[in-house]
Amino acid sequence: MDMSALSDLQVVAIDGPAGSGKSTIGRALAERLGLEYLDTGAMYRAVAFSVIRAQADPDDTDRVRALARSMDLQMAGGRVLVDGVDATLEIRGPEVTRAVTAVAADPEVRAELCTRQRLWALERGGGVVEGRDIGSVVFPDAVLKVYLTASVEERARRRAQEMQDLDYDRVAQDLVRRDESDSSRAASPLVTADGAVEYDTTGVEVARVVEDLATMVAERM
Ligand code: DC
Repeated sequence: MDMSALSDLQVVAIDGPAGSGKSTIGRALAERLGLEYLDTGAMYRAVAFSVIRAQADPDDTDRVRALARSMDLQMAGGRVLVDGVDATLEIRGPEVTRAVTAVAADPEVRAELCTRQRLWALERGGGVVEGRDIGSVVFPDAVLKVYLTASVEERARRRAQEMQDLDYDRVAQDLVRRDESDSSRAASPLVTADGAVEYDTTGVEVARVVEDLATMVAERM
């Protein structure tokens, strides 16, 4: 891959912990800017789905790497197809959510998905890309790098609302567990990238955040 081509892309990188508003804001910002949107968390979830479907052990590194490399992944119109199977709902379920941490901690799985994310942006000239390492690792030259935060209480409340059968305390516990493992893993931990703008979305309306970020993009173009 010609790495110099990456610095010419119009990429907006959005990182932050679970429930910080990345997906809602990322989608709305992409629409506002007329760019496409990529949810890279869904890509890690797709690998975990593929591991579960193959009845493999998420800690069997060789197997997980092979599955990540061979996986055919189609993401369009809000649907996620893994090797032709519609995994849109299942990748949000508890089984995948439990398995994804181990999958996302492996450096070779990360390298594979990083390459796919760069190719995605190269094919489109850019886009709004959301994840945990987008500004720090995948697109360090993004036009705008944003690190979204929100209080644990607000993040757990949002997640519990998204999935109506989820109970607040379990969601809060799960969030804290995932934040901890995403931030403390050796490979591309969740960090605020150099030059990233930190934005606390606690109590701020989505439309307000989107307008603020669109203004920042316009100032940097
Ligand atoms: O955003 P999410 O909850 O769908 O992400 C699922 C998991 O994938 C989460 O535990 C962190 C991981 N992830 C990652 O390590 N790097 C990314 N760029 C995106 C997600």
